[in-house]
Amino acid sequence: MSLGGTAMYAALDPATVPPLVRDAVAAAEQLSFELCVHPATGRLLQSLGAGVAPGGRVAEIGTGTGAGLGWLSSYADPAVEFVSIELDEARAAAAQTVFRDVSNVTVLQGDAGELYEQGPFDLLVFDGGWGTGKTGDRRVELADVVKPFGSFTIDDFAPMKQWPPHFNGEIDQGRHHWLTHPDVRATEIQVAPTMSVLVGLHTPSVVRA
Ligand SMILES: C[S@@+](CC[C@H](N)C(=O)[O-])C[C@H]1O[C@@H](n2cnc3c(N)ncnc32)[C@H](O)[C@@H]1O
Repeated sequence: MSLGGTAMYAALDPATVPPLVRDAVAAAEQLSFELCVHPATGRLLQSLGAGVAPGGRVAEIGTGTGAGLGWLSSYADPAVEFVSIELDEARAAAAQTVFRDVSNVTVLQGDAGELYEQGPFDLLVFDGGWGTGKTGDRRVELADVVKPFGSFTIDDFAPMKQWPPHFNGEIDQGRHHWLTHPDVRATEIQVAPTMSVLVGLHTPSVVRA
């Protein structure tokens, strides 16, 4: 998520933005949805999506109108399957329209938990709903949702200034959890002056032993 992310696209050269992302941003504008993914985060997602091997499965929590999904899927192998879920009916419907002709992309309308039940995935993008513990919400079990040597992202963090990470004057328990998880190799990537994305790789201890 990014506050004002939708508006940022107006300043970009359209040639640098994949058509599906442009369509998703236009749909967001129609719905006055301001929280499209930050374009810099989108470019990171584009690289990660393109790196998934044919046959892989990618999931996104919180579709919005599909901007992040557009970045993720635009340069991926067509044999990679993408599925994203959005709670809001109007946004889910808009995203379904954006991806109506893209056979390897599915947009579901519903709660995050319905997609977690379909895991584990090769790449999981947390961008809404619950599951990360980021704002004190319920946290998913990593092994249930990310395959061994699969990866995940959690976006929209303020760049970390101290260890342990803090948010609003307190230890940021969600971010701390994933950065210290014994089965995760994780770091933050600062994609813009005010925006970091946590990227983690699931490295199960049973495999490392
Ligand atoms: C930051 S926006 C997503 C932005 C989008 N990924 C993009 O790339 O533009 C977060 C979205 O999560 C959705 N959301 C909130 N709670 C949810 C839940 N429990 N399950 C699924 N989606 C949820 C919100 O309706 C909102 O559209």
